[in-house]
Amino acid sequence: MTDDGVEAVSGMFRVLADFDFAGASPLYQRLANAAADDPEVVGLLLPAAPRDRMPHLLFAAVQYLLAGDGIGMLDAFGSEPYATFRSWCLDHRPELESLAARRVIQTNEVGRCAASLPTLASVAAWTGSPLAIVEVGTSAGLNLLLDRYRYVFGPGREMGPSDSDVVLQPRIEGAAPPPMAMPEIVFRMGLDRQPEDVTDGDAMRWLRACIWPEQQWRAELFDRAVEAARRDPPTIVQGDVFDTLGDVVRQAPADATLCVLHTAFINYVPEPDRFADLLTRLGAERPLWRVSGEPPGLVPGLASTAPVPERSGGIHFLYGAQPVGDASHAPAVLARAGTHGAWLEWLA
Ligand SMILES: C[S@@+](CC[C@H](N)C(=O)[O-])C[C@H]1O[C@@H](n2cnc3c(N)ncnc32)[C@H](O)[C@@H]1O
Repeated sequence: MTDDGVEAVSGMFRVLADFDFAGASPLYQRLANAAADDPEVVGLLLPAAPRDRMPHLLFAAVQYLLAGDGIGMLDAFGSEPYATFRSWCLDHRPELESLAARRVIQTNEVGRCAASLPTLASVAAWTGSPLAIVEVGTSAGLNLLLDRYRYVFGPGREMGPSDSDVVLQPRIEGAAPPPMAMPEIVFRMGLDRQPEDVTDGDAMRWLRACIWPEQQWRAELFDRAVEAARRDPPTIVQGDVFDTLGDVVRQAPADATLCVLHTAFINYVPEPDRFADLLTRLGAERPLWRVSGEPPGLVPGLASTAPVPERSGGIHFLYGAQPVGDASHAPAVLARAGTHGAWLEWLA
């Protein structure tokens, strides 16, 4: 363990406590502030690759181990002093270091479907044909199954099967999506360089452990979506987007509207322009729609000047649809939503 390594990771604990955990996870904020001055606890992250040494990787590892005994992190440490957390971590040093070495922070956020679904439904309404959806960076593929979920956007503005166990009811800021038909999805396939298998209990336990402990609604949605996905798991191709997307989109039926969907993906691609070029090349073979939910400014051609709703908490994703290889439609920004889908504002 080098002092430099610990020093850098301690800094991450301070930064995330002040900016990321503040207001979102009081437990992580309190623990991160105290751990920042605790080289032994910070050092538990050093087996991770330098870019992955994030405080929430340690906290996810703690949640994962506690979950094995059926204990939630709030119950374990919510009302305990930092010293209790510290001694628990040091008692579990080998397991925590092994998880830090093997795992990375990973998510599959079902809440994002609340914005993706009406965005895709809009494309289906414009084109008048069923959709073929290819999701890049699909993780466990939970969001590929978005037509199996129930959406409640307000009175008379409900979509999806009324008997679905997965119900998305985002807080509406401003306008709600207008009534629209559930799109028919005739083909769906995901790709990911590190896909997660919904039938693998251990993999799902890790994904769940990456959800912050106060965000119980996310954990419940996740559990229900995993349960539903296990009955008929999505098809996922393992590989880098640049190696696999061409082959996957060529499997989509020719008479469907092809949508390449990505949410919370672009930040992970070191060369986003290369991804845009790839879509342009594929769009020249066969017109497609780029349907995205990403932080503002990350998807060229999509921007909104509408003021962000006051209660929204600032950080958000923009959802939009852009035709690639077909100039008969204009790109459209359709919605703005919380990063995990807690709130939604329809902009179209
Ligand atoms: C933050 S997760 C988002 C998962 C999902 N789209 C969602 O919104 O819940 C980003 C996903 O992109 C995948 N990913 C990142 N870079 C990739 C690449 N070059 N090719 C394929 N998948 C990639 C990661 O493995 C991860 O599963």
